[in-house]
Amino acid sequence: MYKTIRVPIEKGEEARLEVLTADLLDNTRKIRKLQTWEDSFLEIPVTEAAGERAGNYPVVEQKDPEFLQKTFSLKEYLKDSFSEAELAYVPSGWQILGDIIIVSIPESLDEKKHLIAKALLSMHPKCKSVVRDFGIEGQFRQPKRELLLGSGTETIHKEHGCFFKQDVTKVMYSKGNLEERKRMSRLGKGEVVVDMFVGIGYFSIPMAVHSRPRKIISIEINPESFAYLKENIRLNRVEDIITPICGDCSKFTPEETADRVLMGYVGTTHYYLEPAIKALKNSGGILHYHETVPENLAKTRPQERIKKAAESLGKKVEILETRRIKKYSPGVLHVVVDARVFE
Ligand SMILES: C[S@@+](CC[C@H](N)C(=O)[O-])C[C@H]1O[C@@H](n2cnc3c(N)ncnc32)[C@H](O)[C@@H]1O
Repeated sequence: MYKTIRVPIEKGEEARLEVLTADLLDNTRKIRKLQTWEDSFLEIPVTEAAGERAGNYPVVEQKDPEFLQKTFSLKEYLKDSFSEAELAYVPSGWQILGDIIIVSIPESLDEKKHLIAKALLSMHPKCKSVVRDFGIEGQFRQPKRELLLGSGTETIHKEHGCFFKQDVTKVMYSKGNLEERKRMSRLGKGEVVVDMFVGIGYFSIPMAVHSRPRKIISIEINPESFAYLKENIRLNRVEDIITPICGDCSKFTPEETADRVLMGYVGTTHYYLEPAIKALKNSGGILHYHETVPENLAKTRPQERIKKAAESLGKKVEILETRRIKKYSPGVLHVVVDARVFE
């Protein structure tokens, strides 16, 4: 007999937590809402171990139980066609962007890459393709990726109420920057903002959608990313806020214009501090300066670079905050420094 308790809808969560805490919740069957003439209630499945009552409700028999799909891990999917040694190298994590799965597969499993891709698509039936990731490289921060299985590498990723159209083999999308994208979405209200390394709109789009600045001037040097930026401006209906510019931000960053400047780049960001500081209004403004830096220099080098650049332009700096965004590589952090620059 399949056991269950029936509880009033409004008591549902409370009862679920009680049977969960009592280790009586049967998570192989669905919790479901039932409607009768008189009433509607929730049926919460409980295990065989439940006695006459569970969570302060009488235990009754559940008719036509609905079972939850058992989710197999990737290793479980592959156990019949992989040796124990190979299973040890099977990826334990992957990223899903829109309807595309992005996975890193060690070289030792090269011959079995398509079996892994097939298993991942079975695990994520709503996805259309599996792409193998080999990392990000170059000034344009482009991913090295290979389509393993499925149809197409272009997708629309929805995040925090924003749409990001992209070809995952052509442009990067860092899941590690999620919190920073959300933080940027809360800033810029009523301001003029310059985003010097906009990419497909990682910061500009959430900021435009959620904070509606007066204007965002968004600069991108890579024509492929720029094309997706224009698509994303249209998709998120922020044409009235974002002005996209395709070109080198060291040449196209306007001077004495901005209340806030975003420098979402890594590796050589400090080369662009002069145009960034010159972009701020003389009355002062905020700089969000990103850098990848050895952990032991994270609290000194980026800040010193900002101060030195500002001094060379006769400006003063107040370091507001240094935030860790993510571990970039062994011993190296991706940080962002918020600084107020003024005369
Ligand atoms: C790493 S991506 C953007 C990352 C984004 N801020 C984030 O954190 O998710 C940096 C972008 O800057 C662009 N870029 C690199 N050098 C540039 C330059 N001199 N002027 C404008 N864009 C540039 C690259 O093409 C790339 O799309």
